[in-house]
Amino acid sequence: MPLALDTPQGAADLAESLLPPLGNRWLHTQAVAARAREAVAAVPEDERDLLVAAAWLHDIGYAPELRETGFHPLDGARHLESLGAPDRLVRLVAHHSGAVYEAEQRGLSAELAVYEREDSPLLDALIYADMTTGPAGQSFDFARRIDEILVRYEPGSEVHNAISKARPYLGAAVERTRGRIAA
Ligand SMILES: [Fe+2]
Repeated sequence: MPLALDTPQGAADLAESLLPPLGNRWLHTQAVAARAREAVAAVPEDERDLLVAAAWLHDIGYAPELRETGFHPLDGARHLESLGAPDRLVRLVAHHSGAVYEAEQRGLSAELAVYEREDSPLLDALIYADMTTGPAGQSFDFARRIDEILVRYEPGSEVHNAISKARPYLGAAVERTRGRIAA
């Protein structure tokens, strides 16, 4: 029987069954999980494993075999739901790193709204881990990460537009997390 998906090892095992062929996405994912482990002090003790699990799974929706809508937070959440993953984990993946902004660009707001977004230190810390890690697992500060996304996705594209709009929201989550780690 596989380990629970909301444990770091269970999540890592699922990620490893899907992402290695994607190259950089797999490097990115491993580094985001490591970053999340470094940031566990930002969340209550009983949520630390869930933070690391969500970090492992946040981008599984990029795996071609999961593709349904082509919007990776939603495809990832739906897949986790189909596997019977705990609701909170499903919702964190659905809403990682400002997914609502990109859902709006893609006309998928209603589909994403099936999953409630929590506003919490946990979602903030997941955003922090993703938004301070580069596309191949590099350690980036927030401004560099945003700039790299804006260069990688061309102006006018859904991701470019979404990240431009989401920047203040994402930056605030990163700052709150830094404050919690330092406290
Ligand atoms: Fe993502």
